[in-house]
Amino acid sequence: MHQKVTFSFVKKEIRILMLEDNVADAELIRFALREGGLLFSLKRVDSKTAFLKELDTNTPDVILLDYALPGFDGFSALSLAQQHYPDLPFIFVTGTLGEEVVIEMLKSGATDYVLKTRLSRLVPAVLRALREKEDRLQRRKTEEQLRKSHQQLRALSVYLQHIREDERIRISRQVHDELGQSLTGLKMDLYWLSSRVPKQLRELHDKAKSMSHHIDTTIQTVRRISTELRPGILDDLGLVAALEWQAHEFQKRTGIHCLVTSDIKAAILDEDLNTAFFRIFQETLTNIIRHAEATKVTVHLQKQRGHLTLHVHDNGRGITEAQITNTKSIGLLGMRERAALLGGKITITGAPGKGTTVLVRIPLTHPSPRPHSKQAATDAPTSKRNTARAEEAPRAKTSRAQAHRRKTKPPGQVGRPLRGRRNSGRAQAP
Ligand SMILES: Nc1ncnc2c1ncn2[C@@H]1O[C@H](COP(=O)(O)OP(=O)(O)OP(=O)(O)O)[C@@H](O)[C@H]1O
Ligand SMILES: [Mg+2]
Repeated sequence: MHQKVTFSFVKKEIRILMLEDNVADAELIRFALREGGLLFSLKRVDSKTAFLKELDTNTPDVILLDYALPGFDGFSALSLAQQHYPDLPFIFVTGTLGEEVVIEMLKSGATDYVLKTRLSRLVPAVLRALREKEDRLQRRKTEEQLRKSHQQLRALSVYLQHIREDERIRISRQVHDELGQSLTGLKMDLYWLSSRVPKQLRELHDKAKSMSHHIDTTIQTVRRISTELRPGILDDLGLVAALEWQAHEFQKRTGIHCLVTSDIKAAILDEDLNTAFFRIFQETLTNIIRHAEATKVTVHLQKQRGHLTLHVHDNGRGITEAQITNTKSIGLLGMRERAALLGGKITITGAPGKGTTVLVRIPLTHPSPRPHSKQAATDAPTSKRNTARAEEAPRAKTSRAQAHRRKTKPPGQVGRPLRGRRNSGRAQAP
């Protein structure tokens, strides 16, 4: 009495389909399987029709194929079965074969072959084939999970970036409008007060003057903070103007000469493109300040075969290959991710002593990166889903930039120095 063997990867009886016309050979094979201790059920067929029928109605775990049968052969059976069940293990069980035939067999997708004269190899071959199949399926499942989790991470990244940008717009607006208005109100009150103080009280007048000066400085600070959060020029005058303004600020702050050129005529591009290019540019300039030791930066923005490209070159020490590919380079990773979300890419090159070049290339017609689908919303963290939906609704009608423009210009605004952003110096456009 043979002990039946089950294996961790074969939880149940193994269903075997055997294509064999010789009854005696079939019995020998069945015997070998039993001898090997396999727990199995076996169905023998000897024609194409029966083979196909069995394949469909009772899909096996393993197929054992004879090489040659009258009117049908193992190769044809293999290719027919592969069309529908590519993962099924196929083992040829044959008489003596030439090397070429064996090679041909394995090339056409057979998992293994066993000679009828050495049937003791059959059970190990079946088990190995099943284990390989299991591994293959497991690998595919893992790959699928990985792909899915990558997709979810991307959706989350899009979501977080939009939240962040929206938050910046909101805070920028509040700082600009509310603090600005309060400060202006304060200044007017101070003026009212000092105009009522008798002239001979010099000390009080001096104090009022210094307070007024202090308020002016605070108003400047409020403008600067608001602009740094989200430069109004980006939404009002478009990307080229915003890049020029940022380059000007950079030059003023660092003394590094920065020149922007562009062949873009249309001032205002897609809002997502504007934001992506502008934020990548800011990150690039930050890197130049921190790492490049450069004296000159050239920037060129252009349209090129359906793409918008930004070329930023500095004449500094030059980024190394190791720094470019380092997975810990989170700043560079963030820039790449921003471009990738719009279907674009970033190429970074460096030459020792000759500087670094960052090339950003994003298609002008890109898929919307916004997490607008129900799936994306459900992929986002639960506590934020409602916020995401609530924010989607007005966006459908009004872009964030439009909303920003509209809300920063309320009628009858008191804050005189901060009103009318283009003239306010908020963005300090050149
Ligand atoms: N323009 C540049 N010139 C020379 N080296 C650079 C330049 N830009 C980046 N690097 C190098 O590449 C590295 C990775 O840049 P990355 O922006 O990812 O990180 P970081 O600036 O060091 O930190 P952070 O995450 O705050 O941005 C930098 O540490 C620096 O060594
Ligand atoms: Mg950086």
